[in-house]
Amino acid sequence: MGATVNVSGHGLSEPLGQQLLGELEDLAVAAARAAGQFIVAERPRGLGVVGTKSSINDVVTVMDQQSENLLRAHLLGARPNDAILGEEDGASEGTSGITWVIDPIDGTVNYLYQIPAYCVSVAAVIGDAGTPGQWQPVAGAVCNPLTGEVYHARVRGGAYILRDERDTAIEVNPVDVLLESLVATGFGYRAEVRARQGEVLAAILPEIRDIRRAGSAALDLCAVACGTVDAYYESGLNPWDLAAGWLIAAEAGAVVSGLNHIAPGAAAVVAAGPGIHGSLLSRLEALAPLR
Ligand code: IPD
Repeated sequence: MGATVNVSGHGLSEPLGQQLLGELEDLAVAAARAAGQFIVAERPRGLGVVGTKSSINDVVTVMDQQSENLLRAHLLGARPNDAILGEEDGASEGTSGITWVIDPIDGTVNYLYQIPAYCVSVAAVIGDAGTPGQWQPVAGAVCNPLTGEVYHARVRGGAYILRDERDTAIEVNPVDVLLESLVATGFGYRAEVRARQGEVLAAILPEIRDIRRAGSAALDLCAVACGTVDAYYESGLNPWDLAAGWLIAAEAGAVVSGLNHIAPGAAAVVAAGPGIHGSLLSRLEALAPLR
């Protein structure tokens, strides 16, 4: 899974075998689908912004809040002893050693503007999800409710796209030349961070095929997984933006890392097939910090 995390002592109450992993993956798929259907079906007319977070552009809608409520009820209904870390309501404790890291709408700005590139991201992780470098995803799902597609994976189980009730295995592209690679990225919400991210982008752009900024980190990681882009990098992500997509990309054959042997996290996420990950990583390490 690229850079793996030292999560010894994470205190699981049951063995993390394929049976449990399969149950967690199925639950992630069901919860992500339920929330995905909800945010499309129940979107109110004239949806507005009910609050902001890290900047005036880091917006929250009532549907982010309601989707997170639905996810929490769904997950705890099935597994009441698990912990949850959610984008809108923060952390709640559990006793099982499993934490659900959930993004009720990833791509909130797209959702607000009705740009069809948003999703629900649900991941089961082990370790301390609140501490960078101390957790890793073990099962997860990303639901794009407008296409009806659900990307999903569990550790050592491969990555799949569920479409029309049929699962198809997905794989990263075999590209091995950075100059021929389509690279996705994203930007944080704070002006000074964006200014730095713009400098990094200006440096990298002449060295790749082109750049894509879709507006959802979880979908960007799934795009690497299914080959609709060749690579993705971003800095400033929160665990809920990346937890499920990290695992899905890794299980599809991507190397997913941070910079300088650090695990994927707020400082950086770099996801690409093994043929280009090394060259993209060293270029980004030379440009670091990315934010
Ligand atoms: C954001 C999206 C965006 C990424 C930002 C994230 P949100 O998440 O994933 O693509 O560039 O860094 O914060 O706010 O839509 O959940």
